[in-house]
Amino acid sequence: MSIDYNDKISKAVQQVPPSAIRRFFDVASEMKGHVISLSIGEPDFVTPWSIREAGINSLIDGYTHYSPNSGYSDSREAICDYLKRRYGVSYDYKHEVIITVGGSEGLDLAARALINPGDEVIIVEPCFVAYKATVMFAHGVPVVVETKPENNYKLMPEDLEEAITDKTKYIIMGYPNNPTGAVMTLEDYAKIRDVLLKHPDIIVLSDELYCELNYLDSRPASLCQFSELRDRIIMVNGFSKSYAMTGFRIGYVAGPSELIAPMVKIHQYCIMSAPSTAQFCAIEAATNADAEVSRMREEYNHRRRVIIKGLEDAGLSCFTPYGAFYAFPSIKSTGLSSEEFCERFLLEKRVAIVPGNAFGACGEGFVRISYAASMEDIKEAMQLLKEFVEEIKKG
Ligand SMILES: Cc1ncc(COP(=O)(O)O)c(C=O)c1O
Repeated sequence: MSIDYNDKISKAVQQVPPSAIRRFFDVASEMKGHVISLSIGEPDFVTPWSIREAGINSLIDGYTHYSPNSGYSDSREAICDYLKRRYGVSYDYKHEVIITVGGSEGLDLAARALINPGDEVIIVEPCFVAYKATVMFAHGVPVVVETKPENNYKLMPEDLEEAITDKTKYIIMGYPNNPTGAVMTLEDYAKIRDVLLKHPDIIVLSDELYCELNYLDSRPASLCQFSELRDRIIMVNGFSKSYAMTGFRIGYVAGPSELIAPMVKIHQYCIMSAPSTAQFCAIEAATNADAEVSRMREEYNHRRRVIIKGLEDAGLSCFTPYGAFYAFPSIKSTGLSSEEFCERFLLEKRVAIVPGNAFGACGEGFVRISYAASMEDIKEAMQLLKEFVEEIKKG
């Protein structure tokens, strides 16, 4: 007799829909020959050498064992020093930081540490695909707040206020934003702070993975800078994007000890400790890599301008992205859906980009273009985009 697996698999897991990117990537993976990919969410740079060397040296020195559960104290201290230098905010490395397996683990730990079944979690969309899934896996109820291009994709205080109920446990917001490239300034955050002060029980998870990739201000703002919110901000951060370290799988969560302790408990049982070698790399990144980060930021910024100009030439409207390495133009003028646009662009022009609805329903009518790619590829793709849009509009 065969097993009814539907009956076996957790309902929470079954409820999470497959990613809207999937069908599109199925098409891409079948294609033979050269395809320009502006679809990926990771830096095209190789990790700066001094960071790699720190990992190699740790191996030569025999650091091949588990680290303490929340990470080596040296790596936690380096992260606290970095946060102090960057935001002027003090975290105690002993109790207020945990080193995780990428920012991804931080998102999951927060969900599992905070959510009781039925708790509502406000998710600011469009956003990184994992936010909703981590909440649903933990039996929480995602409540979406949409951001809009006319507001530069910033979270509007009145929209947040409207979504809050007595079941709201926490809010997840990520700036600089994947997929829109939007950033929030300290003045924007101050408006959110005012809403939060009216709701003293609500926690905020601020995903700041792209914090170093801000082209408006090389020292961008963070909600953690408001001392009156300090006891309820969970900062999820990491090294993947800003330091080109996706493969190292290293990130961290900083926050009040009362929220970090339960996360350490989950991490202790499920992960044990973040990769030891990567922790040595993280120390070097947090301490000595500012110049390398500036170099990469300048290069992204250069590409960003080329993308903005390319979109303009192609006749696609796009709000100006100031962070991360994505542009999120509207393709509504072509009359195609996001998926149709991406699929046809891929098949007809051999350029891969991502449908905007993969990042939330309000992303329909938009596409995400990553500029974590070579200038040569970006320029060629922009030329092909122009041709493609002209052909579509001609019918
Ligand atoms: C906004 C955002 N947060 C978190 C992550 C997870 O990053 P990692 O687990 O590599 O640190 C990503 C990855 O794409 C992201 O875009």
